[in-house]
Amino acid sequence: MLSWIRGSLRDAYVRSLERDITDPPTHIAVIQDGNRRFARRRGRPPTDGHREGAETTEQLLEWCRDLDIKELTLYAFSTENFDRPAEEREPLFDLITRKLRELSDSDEVAEHEVAIRAIGDIHRLPTRVRQAVDYAERQTASHDQFQLNVALAYGGRSELLTAAQEIAHEVEVGAISPEEIDEQTIDNQLYANEIGDVDLIIRTGGDERTSNFLPWHANGNEAAVVFCAPYWPEFSKIDFLRTIRTYEYREAEWRRSRVERGLALVRGFGDRELPRARNIVRSLRTTDSPGELERSGRPRSGE
Ligand code: FPP
Ligand code: MG
Repeated sequence: MLSWIRGSLRDAYVRSLERDITDPPTHIAVIQDGNRRFARRRGRPPTDGHREGAETTEQLLEWCRDLDIKELTLYAFSTENFDRPAEEREPLFDLITRKLRELSDSDEVAEHEVAIRAIGDIHRLPTRVRQAVDYAERQTASHDQFQLNVALAYGGRSELLTAAQEIAHEVEVGAISPEEIDEQTIDNQLYANEIGDVDLIIRTGGDERTSNFLPWHANGNEAAVVFCAPYWPEFSKIDFLRTIRTYEYREAEWRRSRVERGLALVRGFGDRELPRARNIVRSLRTTDSPGELERSGRPRSGE
């Protein structure tokens, strides 16, 4: 009886959180941290934590669909993770291999047209993982309703370094001149060159770092970052909805403070500069994302 009441209250709370959400992000990236600590706390091996974490990952796909989020990027194996002992690394590779294949064959992925793509230095991965990546990408290639990116052997610095080397090579052979290098040139050379700008990074497990994750797509887009305490296997739909709500508050706050700073700027202008200042404020009001404002070459207030 008590658990029935608790369940009903939880469902009601989920519905009220869902109702509160009006403008969710388009692209979320998740650092699924805290799996080993979750297992250790229960006196179980690290591998159990990763296995339970993968179940949360599967649920997350549903939660994203419920909110009509279009793209999800998961940090599943970083370049730093290669340093872990083989008895932890190998079961993790087995798990990732199995999950990629299960997802690719699942009814949900077919029904909701989920396209799976791996980003990272895939060549560094064992053959079984590379084959599963290849299978998942081929199996879902025609899907276009939801994009699931799995970061494997991924490191933001190594991604940027490889891009810089490739571009230097292109300059050396005369394919491009240094003056021609622009954002698109760099974008084209990234592992993640087909993924969209990230709006929100979520990190579970209590650490407040973004750990070499998507520096170009997230930092460049001034993505919001929400850190939360639950370990990844215990991250619930309520935790998820709360992070989205935090994201919405922050975005609204960011827009409001931009307009306020713009107004302060206008007050500081003399009569002759007033029309130009008004244009700046108007653009602050109408530009949706901070990244868009930067891309348009207009000055950012307060900078
Ligand atoms: C970080 O937790 C997480 C990982 C290294 C791997 C996460 C991968 C999964 C959950 C599998 C999902 C994969 C797919 C393709 C669905 P940790 O090991 O650093 O734990 P700790 O922070 O407690 O030490
Ligand atoms: Mg960790």
